[in-house]
Amino acid sequence: MRPFVICHTMSSVDGRIQSSRWGIANAPRFFEEPAARIKVDAWIVGRTTFQEFASQKPRKKRKGTFRIPKTDFVGKHDAKTYAVGIDPSGKCNWHTNMTDTEHVVEVLTEKVSGEYLDHLRGAGVSYIFAGASEIDLHVALRKLRKLFGIKRARIDGGGTVNGSFLKAGLIDELSHVIVPVADGSMNTPTMFDVEPGHTRRMARQLTLKSIKRLNDNTLWLRYLATPHKP
Ligand SMILES: NC(=O)c1ccc[n+]([C@@H]2O[C@H](COP(=O)([O-])OP(=O)(O)OC[C@H]3O[C@@H](n4cnc5c(N)ncnc54)[C@H](OP(=O)(O)O)[C@@H]3O)[C@@H](O)[C@H]2O)c1
Repeated sequence: MRPFVICHTMSSVDGRIQSSRWGIANAPRFFEEPAARIKVDAWIVGRTTFQEFASQKPRKKRKGTFRIPKTDFVGKHDAKTYAVGIDPSGKCNWHTNMTDTEHVVEVLTEKVSGEYLDHLRGAGVSYIFAGASEIDLHVALRKLRKLFGIKRARIDGGGTVNGSFLKAGLIDELSHVIVPVADGSMNTPTMFDVEPGHTRRMARQLTLKSIKRLNDNTLWLRYLATPHKP
């Protein structure tokens, strides 16, 4: 069993997602307000986006031997909701195991060092392993359900993590805010960035579920994804 997955994203009319370049006052509210209306047990982001929530203080790696088994760890917490980051090499550092009201869960591969696991345990951050050297998102989702009871999860970006869930056929619903700006930038994150080499079969057809005007010019569209054909 895995959680139901809703991908939530806010883009320009041409699908770019870096709102800092749009010159729209307080653009992130157009992401956050609709997100808050989607009731979920967890939000999931890629490592780059997770670092915006993690400790900004550089961490000195400690020397020595850290004999910590590469098995899942659930830190002590009494949160009902979770902040999950796909962080295959363990690049995010934490001085707390909470982001606002969510308990932090790191999704790792076995590439990470014992020293990093010791750091996470020290901060009380939970972690799960989802592959030896590459992340298997199916494994990650099954563990999130089993260990934390997560039944509904919202993928909150950025483009790489959205793209990897799209590629894995793991998006059940798309929530898309379209901001009235034509971005046109090259080599910046887009709604779905899948590495080169994917085939046409990765495209996913969608069925429009609802359409709302957030203000005069901003639209919020919700779609159901058609079942994935491998
Ligand atoms: N407008 C919006 O809706 C929205 C929402 C969120 C973020 N953003 C913006 O988007 C930008 C970040 O987007 P991004 O695409 O560069 O980064 P991202 O998706 O936040 O993170 C990408 C990183 O996550 C890890 N990762 C994700 N999926 C993986 C998988 N299946 N397997 C292995 N590793 C995986 C990798 O980490 P490693 O590099 O460590 O291997 C990868 O480089 C930021 O500017 C942020 O502000 C916009």
